Amino acid sequence: MNSKQAPIEEAILEKGIDLHQLPVHVAIIMDGNGRWAKQRLLNRINGHEKGAETVRSIVTTSRELGIPTLTLYAFSTENWQRSTLEVSALMSLLKKFLESEKPVMMENGIRLNAIGQLERLPHDVRNVLYQTIAATRNNPGMVLNLALSYGGRAEIVRMTRILAEKAAAGSLDPQSITEETVSAHLYTHNLPDPDLLIRTSGEMRISNFLLWQIAYSELHITRTLWPDFSRDEYLDILKDYQQRDRRFGNA
Ligand code: FPP
Repeated sequence: MNSKQAPIEEAILEKGIDLHQLPVHVAIIMDGNGRWAKQRLLNRINGHEKGAETVRSIVTTSRELGIPTLTLYAFSTENWQRSTLEVSALMSLLKKFLESEKPVMMENGIRLNAIGQLERLPHDVRNVLYQTIAATRNNPGMVLNLALSYGGRAEIVRMTRILAEKAAAGSLDPQSITEETVSAHLYTHNLPDPDLLIRTSGEMRISNFLLWQIAYSELHITRTLWPDFSRDEYLDILKDYQQRDRRFGNA
């Protein structure tokens, strides 16, 4: 945590955040690492390294606030198309993050979960990922859900195949399929839908993220690039969320 920051209790009071009205699930599209680096004449990998520091700060803040679930879009199915150098840098950053944060997760009761085509991750990353998920599985404090090699459409295709196979095998009556059946066969079957979706770096798009799950999520897009995204701005966004009138399609 940044030593210049006021204690979280002071910041919560100052912002007027109601701890009883926090989102149950915050999802974040962490965008802008490349542009952050370019602005400083650094390489994209330096941007991702700085982005990983922001990840630590936002995970810590979410845990301190008592947000039950935080999902971070760390690597999309489309990201495999980036240069070999950038992909391997992101993979090694992810591995380093998991190794260094495991004790922090244990200390703070954080349970790690991951969604996406995890089988596509390199062996060493997958091993550390599964070990950390196993080690943290009884932690009661917060679910840190990493979207890795994740794509919303691929998730829906996977769910459709599972349901079709069950129907073909005679264990599922197609007429009995409801929205709950669909939700129960997505990667996120054990998580609530996001109440709040944040995207950094100002792009006005969803980028194949949690397509089914964000049906009623509140959206917040900030122009701040992910490496510059601070605890202060995160708290402001949570305060703004608390002032929204969520109608879920009702008048
Ligand atoms: C988008 O920035 C970000 C990513 C593709 C990866 C996100 C990864 C991190 C924040 C660091 C590692 C993650 C963890 C969990 C330790 P971009 O490269 O698309 O930026 P640009 O749009 O400005 O080029």
